[in-house]
Amino acid sequence: MARYFATTPIYYVNDVPHMGHAYTTLNGDALCRWRRLHGDEVFYLTGTDEHGLKVQRAAEENGLTPQEQADRTSRRFREAWDLLDIAYDDFIRTTEARHHTAVQTLLERCYENGYVYKDTYQGVYCVSCEAYYAEADLTDGNCPIHESPVEEMAEDNYFFRLSAFRDRLLAWFEAVPDNITPERYRNEARALVRGGLEDLSITRTSLQWGIPVPWDRKHVFYVWYDALTNYATAAGYGTDDERFATWWPACRHLLGKDIIRFHCVYWPAMLMAAGVEPLPRFHVHGWLLVSGAKMAKSSVVQIAPADLAADLGVDGLRYSVLRDNPFGPDSDFSYEALVQRCNSDLANGLGNLLQRVTSIVARSAGSLGSAPVPESPLGVVTEQAYASAAEAWDRVQPSVALEATWRIVRETNEYLQAHQPWKLDPGPARDAVLGDALEALRIVAVLAHPAIPRSCAEVWRRIGLAGDPSQARLPGAAIWGQYPGGLTVTAGAPLFPRLSAD
Ligand code: MSP
Repeated sequence: MARYFATTPIYYVNDVPHMGHAYTTLNGDALCRWRRLHGDEVFYLTGTDEHGLKVQRAAEENGLTPQEQADRTSRRFREAWDLLDIAYDDFIRTTEARHHTAVQTLLERCYENGYVYKDTYQGVYCVSCEAYYAEADLTDGNCPIHESPVEEMAEDNYFFRLSAFRDRLLAWFEAVPDNITPERYRNEARALVRGGLEDLSITRTSLQWGIPVPWDRKHVFYVWYDALTNYATAAGYGTDDERFATWWPACRHLLGKDIIRFHCVYWPAMLMAAGVEPLPRFHVHGWLLVSGAKMAKSSVVQIAPADLAADLGVDGLRYSVLRDNPFGPDSDFSYEALVQRCNSDLANGLGNLLQRVTSIVARSAGSLGSAPVPESPLGVVTEQAYASAAEAWDRVQPSVALEATWRIVRETNEYLQAHQPWKLDPGPARDAVLGDALEALRIVAVLAHPAIPRSCAEVWRRIGLAGDPSQARLPGAAIWGQYPGGLTVTAGAPLFPRLSAD
């Protein structure tokens, strides 16, 4: 059986969930649902990144302990994902005991293999930033951000011998042509490796809020070293070897372009150092921009997923975000565009199609749906749409897959327009048109399920099918002609209300 293990980055708990976080999480959810429809065994992982200075500081500002800060905000992420119908299989928190074990085990392996050493870190330090700076980055000898004097500091740190991995990383790029997609980010990561790699300081003594180094408890791990390991932890690293061996080869990471260096350079090197194979695959996306600025930093500040879902409906939000923001490039994010997309594709598209068909059938004797015509032109449309959608999902392009799926919606609406079943008397001609439309709706309910699961379940119910489209299995379920006819069809309130952008 095929396995599919997909991850989102784990989100910092200094800040509450916003649409930038939701974007990755939604794309991952849709991809996993698509694989489940094929009968794959799927493991979808998300979670929160809870250690480090950022979180310690946020806690201080809020008058909380770091653990309280983490507990509160982690809950907010989980609530946001539950609200958006994200079907995660595990939600990892880096403060959990299983994660401590995995981080320490991974470090021990790297240490035994000779890739960790202790040295004194010497450099200029800005206390306000809690960060070291290279002399070249200073402004007139001062911190470039605070413009205040920096201090000479020396700290005993453990270092990871990243410099030893240049050739092996380049060999990985040679051997695996699609290790990172899309291509532009693969090139970016390869350029980072080619440009030269310096060893990394992976522990801190100046910070308490972290995982202690097992044999030297003055030190805690640097937050990124700790965070990246989450993916291995959740697969069972350090706690369940058999489980880890099962899931790890199926691992793929979804991430934003701002964290390429950590994921596509440091993490593969850490895995190689610990002797973990094979390396995961990486799917990188751009930023959602509001008026040209990255969302988290824009003047709109942060758009909460819950606020948008209240306006657009959960599926309205899911659909318009997935459909309008291709996975890869940066894209403009605007409320008006989301509303327009919901109206055109959901209210006027799928909702209208369902309404037209179910209301005619529900008015006829017994409210029974009819079967499709085997040679219907819509059969050709659905076959082509499925092929294009499947290819796009495989390339991690949900927006393209949905565009292909909505070709069925559009052409079925046009088919109804051309044959006007509402003007036909009951009989074989009318049954044929309605049967075709019901069959098209059945197929759309399966193909669109990854994006709008709740609405597809409702389409399924209204056309009289038992169970839920998530139980359908592709590619078989996309084959034309399976709607049986003779089922009771129910008309109901419009599935998607028409929205106004005001
Ligand atoms: N905690 C680290 C990740 C550790 S993974 C081992 C982190 N967290 S984060 O909360 O700051 O960001 C997580 C993800 O959200 C990143 O992939 C980032 O690209 C994404 N986004 C944050 N703002 C975004 C947009 N405006 N648009 C799209 N995604 C963006 O980094």
